[in-house]
Amino acid sequence: MENNFTKTQIVFKETKKIFLEKLDIYSPEEINNIIYWGMESIFQVTKVQILSDVSIKTTKKWKMFIEKMLNYYPIQYFLQESYFYKHIFFVNENVLIPRPETEIIIEKIIAKYPLKDQKLTILDLGTGSGCLAISLALLYPNADVFAIDISEKALDVAKKNAQIHQTKNIHFECLDMQKIKDFQKKFDIIVSNPPYICEKEKTEMSKNVLDYEPHLALFVPDNNALVFYEAIANWGNLYLAEKGNILIEINQNLPQETINVFQKQSFSNIILHKDYFDNHRIIEIQK
Ligand SMILES: C[S@@+](CC[C@H](N)C(=O)[O-])C[C@H]1O[C@@H](n2cnc3c(N)ncnc32)[C@H](O)[C@@H]1O
Repeated sequence: MENNFTKTQIVFKETKKIFLEKLDIYSPEEINNIIYWGMESIFQVTKVQILSDVSIKTTKKWKMFIEKMLNYYPIQYFLQESYFYKHIFFVNENVLIPRPETEIIIEKIIAKYPLKDQKLTILDLGTGSGCLAISLALLYPNADVFAIDISEKALDVAKKNAQIHQTKNIHFECLDMQKIKDFQKKFDIIVSNPPYICEKEKTEMSKNVLDYEPHLALFVPDNNALVFYEAIANWGNLYLAEKGNILIEINQNLPQETINVFQKQSFSNIILHKDYFDNHRIIEIQK
């Protein structure tokens, strides 16, 4: 097929046949989405053009795309782009691919802080691609946003995304969130989607996540599964402003245990939210 002109519908159908046979972790709908996304990005065509069967020139990149997908490589890493809350973020293997359920944090914040010109102070612990910090910086252009991560390589990605989205109101710092830094300010909002998957849960995970996404972003020891929530509660105790809010993503299997961590640190106003799959996923804590 290389460097020959062919019709989009032929490419689509041939690829779909191969993927349906070989890629058992995706549903037919997910396979359609992967092929459309790959074709749109690699051939620079729209979905409408694909459906109306335009001619395209197949390339080495398309061949490589098929090979990588057959090895369960995440399409987001291959195309170096991922969607999060209305924006496209650059991603590579140094950062977690942003997940739709994490967007619930943004939605809850918008509901609590509807005025977009507010001068909020926001802290993002474990920023990864920067998806939370940058989405909030774009929503609240007068906010001061601080974003930390222990990984320099993840921070390089977050800084690149801040440049792409032209956000000037974010300060990035390489820090271990388990070591509290001496900040001279209080935060109105603390957000975090920390590592929370127990090592023992690895057996239930798909190959595309386990083999390619950074384990530093995913896993915690079985005997210390809430280590990052204890750290977040410490940050909250020291740096959350009066009436401030903490919004964090949690392990669906440990909702009450996670709430207990915050109750032990004298936070009492705690709400648990479910995600789109009916799993306990986000907790909201008000001071
Ligand atoms: C689950 S990812 C979340 C990334 C991003 N916020 C998101 O929602 O897509 C967790 C992030 O925490 C970072 N991390 C892991 N251990 C850390 C630590 N001790 N201190 C600060 N960040 C840490 C990882 O590098 C990773 O970027």
